[in-house]
Amino acid sequence: MKADVLLGLQWGDEGKGKVVDVLTPRYDVVARFQGGPNAGHTLEFDGKKYVLRSIPSGVFQHGQINIIGNGVVLDPVLFRQEAEELQKSGIDLRNVLKISKKAHLIMPTHRLLDAAGERAKGDSKIGTTGKGIGPTYTDKISRNGLRIGDIFNDFDIKYAKARKLHLDQLERMGEPATDISELEQNWLDSINYLRSFDIIDSEYYVNNCLDEGKSVLCEGAQGTMLDVDFGSYPFVTSSNTITAGACSGLGLAPNRIGEVFGIFKAYCTRVGSGPFPTELFDETGKTIRAIGHEFGAVTGRERRCGWIDLVALRYAIMIDGVTKLIMMKSDVLDTFDTIKACVAYKINGVETDRMPFNLEDQAVEPVYVELPGWKTDMTALRSESEFPAEFSAYIDFLEQRLGVPVAIVSIGPDREQTIIRNL
Ligand code: GDP
Ligand code: IMO
Ligand code: MG
Repeated sequence: MKADVLLGLQWGDEGKGKVVDVLTPRYDVVARFQGGPNAGHTLEFDGKKYVLRSIPSGVFQHGQINIIGNGVVLDPVLFRQEAEELQKSGIDLRNVLKISKKAHLIMPTHRLLDAAGERAKGDSKIGTTGKGIGPTYTDKISRNGLRIGDIFNDFDIKYAKARKLHLDQLERMGEPATDISELEQNWLDSINYLRSFDIIDSEYYVNNCLDEGKSVLCEGAQGTMLDVDFGSYPFVTSSNTITAGACSGLGLAPNRIGEVFGIFKAYCTRVGSGPFPTELFDETGKTIRAIGHEFGAVTGRERRCGWIDLVALRYAIMIDGVTKLIMMKSDVLDTFDTIKACVAYKINGVETDRMPFNLEDQAVEPVYVELPGWKTDMTALRSESEFPAEFSAYIDFLEQRLGVPVAIVSIGPDREQTIIRNL
């Protein structure tokens, strides 16, 4: 068996959580491979809404095993909150969740370093989620990190060492000394809570599952344009959000990857700082935000909104090796007379369909194609045959420009509002 991957092609919040939940019944295992509680994956069904941050979005279906892979960074305090919340909804995570020994721990001081790093950057701050993501991955790469497997062996010593490094660093950054004892106690209590979960060598587990003919869906967090190598650097997250991240974040060899589902919104959003060529600062942008409820699931921040960017999407499809596309939130455009799609960038008067080295050092003017809107409420539709002709034409246009078929179309936040075309 091969492992399929589902990941975001834009700047995150494409609707990954919803679709992973919808696809979970087709799989035996769902595995998160990178990111941490900077993610906010929303699911809606039976009139209820859930937001998952570190826990994979396969926990609401029945019997599938969910894995937090080695590429993830885990904050035990937020993990506990999330797990206890799910427990209240009747989900006994201990039966369905396994966590990699090699996933790295986010410490309270990582969050302080995240905030201090942002303050130090001033006007050029990234607008991080403040969850300590960058400092935790920095420690991983600089070989100072604490891994979940460490909690079973001389943990106090390892923790004290890492803590000292961080406090010294905060002092060097000119941060005033703060009393972290309360934060720390809560964190250490949550470490004890974490011990009661099934903490495993997840690379063996996932590969064994595939050997035994079980199916695996890898769930990405963030999106390709936030990838640390290929995103809009430095305004990115600190992990590899791309398909290759599923290999390194779970211990899967590249030849074990099957389908790659690339997910995007029918328009585009971004939260935090950084370039966004098709961003709309006018009424249209505000209308998209209002109809699409474009406010962050983690921080509540307003999401910046704009038209779909096919230059960025084509780039993401190339980097990720996308085999099937999934289009989300088409219903948000239901009332529009005209839909625009950016097909190229004009830079210094020259048109290009390539992603430049960086987007912020020069004026990037999007070149748009206009398409007629479908002016139909699509939220109650349940099959492709009911699509208005203009909407089918929009899909055809995207498939032709992107070179990959659109397998699923989402027309509302609920599980039921999902139309499967050709999986
Ligand atoms: P994720 O981080 O990729 O899982 O996406 P988020 O959960 O952060 O953001 C997606 C938001 O859009 C959530 O509030 C979803 O409930 C909502 N959503 C998902 N699909 C659709 C859709 O097709 N239509 C509408 N109107 N909302 C959707
Ligand atoms: P999901 O999985 C949207 C953005 C932050 C910031 C940048 C770096 O829900 O799609 P970080 O805290 O990771 O150091 O922040 O990345 N960001 C996201 N934007 N969706 C996310 O996750 C994001 N995770 C991080 O806003 O610009
Ligand atoms: Mg999100």
